[in-house]
Amino acid sequence: MKLMVIGSGGREHAVIRKLKESPQVETIYALPGNGGIAADAVCVDIGAKDIDGAVRFAKENAIDFAVVTPDDPLVLGMVDALEGAGVPCFGPDKKAAIIEGSKVFSKNLMKKYGIPTASYEVFDDAEKALEYVKTAPLPTVVKADGLALGKGVLIAQTREEAIEAVKSIMEDKKFGASGDQIVVEEFLTGPEVSVLAFTDGVTVKPMVSSMDHKRAHDNDTGLNTGGMGTVAPNPYYTKDVAGVCMETIFKPTIAAMAAEGRPFKGCLYFGLMLTPDGPKVIEYNCRFGDPETQVVLPLMESDLLEAMTACRNGTLDKTDVRFSDKHACCVIMASNGYPESYEKGYEISYDAGIKAQVYVAGAKLEDGKLLTNGGRVLGVTAVAENLPEAIKAAYADVEKVHFGNAFYRHDIGGLALKALEN
Ligand code: AMP
Ligand code: GLY
Repeated sequence: MKLMVIGSGGREHAVIRKLKESPQVETIYALPGNGGIAADAVCVDIGAKDIDGAVRFAKENAIDFAVVTPDDPLVLGMVDALEGAGVPCFGPDKKAAIIEGSKVFSKNLMKKYGIPTASYEVFDDAEKALEYVKTAPLPTVVKADGLALGKGVLIAQTREEAIEAVKSIMEDKKFGASGDQIVVEEFLTGPEVSVLAFTDGVTVKPMVSSMDHKRAHDNDTGLNTGGMGTVAPNPYYTKDVAGVCMETIFKPTIAAMAAEGRPFKGCLYFGLMLTPDGPKVIEYNCRFGDPETQVVLPLMESDLLEAMTACRNGTLDKTDVRFSDKHACCVIMASNGYPESYEKGYEISYDAGIKAQVYVAGAKLEDGKLLTNGGRVLGVTAVAENLPEAIKAAYADVEKVHFGNAFYRHDIGGLALKALEN
């Protein structure tokens, strides 16, 4: 089969590497991919949001199956356009992708169907929102309704910060039209767990759980980022917790989307918090997480392409989805300054003997050299029998990767290790 994968991050590189293991795959095109992905796929200079370009390319090249990975093209309706042109896709259509595209939609969905989440109020009027946060309990969480590059969530510790958060989103339009509406919600506490799940709109099959490390620097200091590293499985996500999540969150969400006439097919990402009152949904994403995917897919034992086509065709109940009992750790190597400004254009080199998977995110090829070209440059993922060994192996290989201005966190997996000790 000829496949095309939309996107250009470490997540897409992990998806492509895993798809290559499938005996049915002949060629994979990446739109646009990146300089590192070029080692595993044919990169095509068509942007991830270019819906017309993707449809044209798919038809001209007789693509058999398309994997639409990032949030933007999904929310914009790339799957609708491709399927409309006769190209089968993995990923939700526009109607279903709204579960990530609008926080107001997802909060109202959870309320309507009794799915546990933080209590909240919705505002489309800045004055009313400001009035409300003057008396809301602190800390308080202010979220822009729409996509905001993962930055649309502001946690206000003080009254002043809450007022500032509302003003920046609704009046100064920090996230553009994404801030026309906001959700103000209760601050929850507890360990966070990411669960990615395959679903065909009826059946849901969760993948192995994972733990992201969102802050830029060690000990969870610094700014929020897209994610600086992950481990899988997440030790807080015990069998008991998984059972509760399945019955109170996963199945009810899939059923709710179907009941709303928006059946979700693809990978649904459940961002969960294990609160003292039980697991609650912090957010839904309509796609694979990054860097969660960089630890989850290396642990997948069954065939990824089969799972993806089953999600599309409604046959997930009959499809084998299996993960190993091993552990994975991914350390993201970034450009110093990320998530704000950073320099790029430094050559990336590897010492011999790297055993980990290196998934490239922000790099380009120039005259045969791989140069840094983004904030998150690459992820180094090691798999081992237990978590301490996976962490050790990942960091051992991080030492073998070199580029100018590199930085990474030194404590990925630390919280998970502590949880295992208790
Ligand atoms: P999101 O962009 O929705 O993933 O939110 C970013 C981060 O903000 C989450 O990973 C949580 O750590 C935190 N967060 C979001 N909502 C809440 C909440 N209601 N209570 C506490 N923390 C939250
Ligand atoms: N790592 C969080 C996300 O992909 O949204």
